[in-house]
Amino acid sequence: MRTQVAIIGAGPSGLLLGQLLHKAGIDAVIVERQSGEYVLGRIRAGILEQVTADLLDEAGVGARMHREGLVHEGIELLVHGTRHRVDLHKYSGGSTVVVYGQTELTRDLMDARAGAGLTTFYEAEQVQVGGFDGNAPFVTFRGKDGREQRIDCDFIAGCDGYHGVCRASVPKDRIREYEKVYPFGWLGLLSDTPPVSEELIYANSARGFALCSMRSHTRSRYYLQVPLTDNVKDWSDDAFWDELRLRLDDKARESLVTGPSLEKSIAPLRSFVVEPLRFGRLFLAGDAGHIVPPTGAKGLNLAATDVKYLSAALIEYFKERSEAGIDHYSERCLRRVWRAERFSWWFTSLMHQFPDDGPIGTKFQLAELDYLLNSEAGLRSIAENYVGLPLDFAEGR
Ligand code: FAD
Ligand code: DHB
Repeated sequence: MRTQVAIIGAGPSGLLLGQLLHKAGIDAVIVERQSGEYVLGRIRAGILEQVTADLLDEAGVGARMHREGLVHEGIELLVHGTRHRVDLHKYSGGSTVVVYGQTELTRDLMDARAGAGLTTFYEAEQVQVGGFDGNAPFVTFRGKDGREQRIDCDFIAGCDGYHGVCRASVPKDRIREYEKVYPFGWLGLLSDTPPVSEELIYANSARGFALCSMRSHTRSRYYLQVPLTDNVKDWSDDAFWDELRLRLDDKARESLVTGPSLEKSIAPLRSFVVEPLRFGRLFLAGDAGHIVPPTGAKGLNLAATDVKYLSAALIEYFKERSEAGIDHYSERCLRRVWRAERFSWWFTSLMHQFPDDGPIGTKFQLAELDYLLNSEAGLRSIAENYVGLPLDFAEGR
């Protein structure tokens, strides 16, 4: 078969790209390794920047997010037992974030795709990409019916995440990797219990980082910093709740409602970027090109803005026969990516316990937090970065 854009991966970046292209009348086919159910079962991000929410509207899939998403104007930082509110709205000049789970966003995009009758090959095996250095890129795979398939296309969009085939298909001497692996992971727990507080609480405690987040007024998401050697099987629900209580303050301990976990998993923390993000007619977008540690909730939002830049570039190519957008894609994305990478690394460094840094590391963190939380400039810096950059932040500079 033939299409204009072959998209590898039906996570948020692949699905959103498909939808934005469809709206512009550009034909795209998605090839995904897993089943749709499996993709929906992955519990991941939960916070959308305003820019991401606007993109969902642009893609025509924002209605449920507006109905069910929770708009947050602030976050709380709990620093060794003392709470500080960061007024995001005030210090970012009027921006907010929306609590809306990646699962819900993915479901909305999947429903829109199915409703429009667009082609997605789920459970594709042995996916391979080729020909992107010339003018005839192609994708091959074995479909779920066992048949070998080939898609010829004008462009390939690598939206296949950190473990995908697209980045791996680029010759090593044409790609540069930057990576930092952190000496701990996040143990996450999802439960049908009311959130402990109206706003998210990011906690720096002597026992390690904790995050109290939510998906709705009745569903909570909590995270604990844990050693990389920990195994999720060894964390009973009771052990999780006990440890969380120890990392919170009295007010949160009193209002914490516990319950059985719906999901529990450990995610390692990593900063990772590749340069460039374009190789001839192959583009990398989202986690295929970069990973942030989750502190600050930038991963999903970066994936969405990559895809906005990529869809704009492809639309420009097909509608105006201009290559300016595709030529600038990599540079344009990377500037934004590095800004979010820096913030996520910095916020991670500020809020976690680093076993090798010892007591002086903790003192440095406390002094920095003392400065930031008592300074207009500090609060503005946290708020502006947390709510995210506008899409055109680098234009004309
Ligand atoms: P993905 O969501 O990874 O989607 C890629 C898709 O490509 C997948 O469906 C995969 O099955 C498919 N694929 C892979 N290989 C192939 C192949 N060879 N052929 C075809 N298809 C393929 N971000 C936050 O902001 N907050 C969080 O709390 C948070 N928690 C996270 C927890 C975990 C465990 C992980 C892994 C990520 C987390 N993130 C979080 C990051 C956020 O979820 C990602 O940034 C976001 O999912 C990126 O979307 P994506 O579409 O680029 O990649
Ligand atoms: C969530 C995850 C994050 O990394 C974060 O900074 C805030 C919220 C979440 O999963 O809800």
